[in-house]
Amino acid sequence: MVYLPLILGFSLVAFGYSQDLELQTSLTVEYRDTTESTRITTPITESIIPSDKTTEKYIESSIKNALRFLISQRETDWGWRNDTPKVLTALKLLNAYEDVLDGLLPSAFEMQLSSKQMEIEVVIMLWRHHELPITPSQLAQYCLALSALCYDPRQFHGHDLIGTLQHHEAPHDLDFAYSTLAACTARAHVRKKQIRRLLDIANTAKDHNIDTVAMTILALRCVVMDHRHRNLQHSLRRPSISLARQQQPDGGFGNLYNTALVLQALDDLNELKSYWNKTAARAYLESRQDPDGAYTDAGLTSDVLLAIVDKGLGMVRLMECGRHENDYENNVEIEGLTKSLSSHGNDSEIRNVTITYTLWIGSNMTENCTISITAPRNTSFYSVMQMAMEMDSHFAFEASEWPNGHYVHTLAGYKEEPMGYNYWLLYRLPELPDPSAPPANQLVAPVGVDDLLIEEGDHYLFWYKKL
Ligand SMILES: *[C@@H]1O[C@H](CO)[C@@H](O)[C@H](O)[C@H]1NC(C)=O
Ligand SMILES: *[C@@H]1O[C@H](CO)[C@@H](O)[C@H](O)[C@H]1NC(C)=O
Ligand SMILES: *[C@@H]1O[C@H](CO)[C@@H](O)[C@H](O)[C@H]1NC(C)=O
Ligand SMILES: *[C@@H]1O[C@H](CO)[C@@H](O)[C@H](O)[C@H]1NC(C)=O
Ligand SMILES: *[C@@H]1O[C@H](CO)[C@@H](O)[C@H](O)[C@H]1NC(C)=O
Ligand SMILES: *[C@@H]1O[C@H](CO)[C@@H](O)[C@H](O)[C@H]1NC(C)=O
Repeated sequence: MVYLPLILGFSLVAFGYSQDLELQTSLTVEYRDTTESTRITTPITESIIPSDKTTEKYIESSIKNALRFLISQRETDWGWRNDTPKVLTALKLLNAYEDVLDGLLPSAFEMQLSSKQMEIEVVIMLWRHHELPITPSQLAQYCLALSALCYDPRQFHGHDLIGTLQHHEAPHDLDFAYSTLAACTARAHVRKKQIRRLLDIANTAKDHNIDTVAMTILALRCVVMDHRHRNLQHSLRRPSISLARQQQPDGGFGNLYNTALVLQALDDLNELKSYWNKTAARAYLESRQDPDGAYTDAGLTSDVLLAIVDKGLGMVRLMECGRHENDYENNVEIEGLTKSLSSHGNDSEIRNVTITYTLWIGSNMTENCTISITAPRNTSFYSVMQMAMEMDSHFAFEASEWPNGHYVHTLAGYKEEPMGYNYWLLYRLPELPDPSAPPANQLVAPVGVDDLLIEEGDHYLFWYKKL
C-alpha cells in the first residue's frame, strides 16, 4: 500500500529566531537566520510570523493558492477522505499565519467540525481493524493530527492510540520512524530500544531511502528535545549530511514528497549549509505547483505547505496546548500504564517470533553455523541461546554470572582469550549476516544477553574475532 507520511520538521537549534525573508525570484525565498543557538522555549504562536511586504506577496501567490485548493477539496462531511489528518495538521500549523492568511483559514467552528469528522474516522478505523488492518503510518498520522489539535492521543476516548502504535513495532524502517515521531510528539516514553533502532538506521543512512532517512532524522530531532537524550544530538550530523548530499541538479530529492520531507528534516541545521542548496529545493517545490494551487493532491499539498512555510509537524510537540515540558518528566513511567490501557488488537495473544542465530569463528569466518528459532516475542536472547544449545550441540556455551547478568565467554568450544584479544562479540542485525559484507561495529548489541529481547525478523550473530 502506498502511503504518504506526514511531513514533520522543526527548528531545534534556532527555534524562535528572527529571520529575514528575501525575494530571490518571484517564487523563491531564502531564509536567513540572524541568530543562532537560541534554545527552544518559544511557543509556536510567537514564532516566525513574516511581516514584510515581499513575504506577504509570496504568501499571497503560493501559499494562499495551495490553501484555497485544500479548502476546495473538503467533502460535505467536513473531512478530506484519506487525507483528513494531514490536511488538518497543516491547517492547524498554518494558524500561526492567521494575520496574513486573512479569511482563508477555516473558522474555529469549521475546524471543530473537521476535527469531529477525524474522530469518527479514527473510531471507524479502530472498529474495523479486523477486516482492514491499521497500518502504522496511518495511525501515526492520526496521532500527530490529534496532537496538533491539542487532543492527547494517549487518551482518545479512553483508548491509548500511542500504546497501540508502539505495541507492535513496525517492521519497516519508515513506518517505525514515523510511529516513533508520533509517540515522541505525544510526549510518550520512547524506549531505549527504539532510539537504538533509529540510530541504527541513521548510521546506515546510505543504505536507506531518502524518505526513511528524513523521517528518522525528524524522529531523532524530536527525541533529543528531551533533555535526557541531548547527548544524542551529535549523532544527527552524519546522516543529515548524507541526506543533504543527495540533492539533485534540479534542486529536488527525487520527487515532491521526498523533497518536502528533506526540507523539513534539514531545515535550520545551519552547519549543513555547505552541503545543499535550500533555495534550490524550495524552487523545485514551487515550480511544481499546479495552476489551481495544488501540489498534486490534498495530502501532498499539505506536506509541501508545511515545508514551504517552515512549519513542519515537528513543531507539533512544541505547540502550546496547556501542556508544559515539565509534564513530560512525570510521564516517564507511562509505558506500563499505556500497556494496560491498550485495548486494540489481541493483546492477550502471546505471539511467537522467528529469529536466526549464527556463529562465526575467526576473523575470516573459518567456521559458521546458523539456526532458526521460534519463541515468544519478548524472550531474552539468553533463553534463545539455551534453546539453541538443546537443539544443536554446536551452540553449546558457557557463561559466568555477574550482578548485571550473564557474560558469555565460551561458545562452540572456543573460549575468549583476552591475552590474544580474541573475544565473542554479539551483533543484532536486520538481515542474515553475510561473510562478504561483515557487520560494522555499531551493530554490536548494545545490551547483554539477558536484556536483549527478541523481535520478529532479528538476526543475531556471535562472532569470535580478534579485536
Ligand atoms: C542555489 O540555487 C539557486 C536557485 O537554483 C541559485 O540561484 C543559487 O546560485 C544557488 N546557490 C548556490 C550557493 O549554489
Ligand atoms: C486472542 O487470540 C487467541 C489465539 O489466537 C484466541 O484464542 C483468543 O480468543 C483471542 N482473544 C480475543 C479477545 O480476540
Ligand atoms: C584471513 O584471510 C586473509 C586474506 O584472505 C589472510 O591474509 C589471513 O592470513 C587470514 N587469517 C587467518 C587467521 O586465517
Ligand atoms: C559456512 O561454512 C560452510 C562450510 O562449512 C561453507 O560451505 C558455507 O559457504 C559457509 N557459509 C557462510 C555463510 O559462511
Ligand atoms: C510458540 O512456540 C512454542 C515453542 O517455542 C510452542 O510450544 C508454542 O505452541 C508456540 N505458540 C504459538 C502460538 O505458535
Ligand atoms: C512477555 O510477555 C508476556 C505477555 O505479553 C508477559 O506475561 C511476560 O511477563 C513477558 N515477559 C517478559 C520477560 O517481559
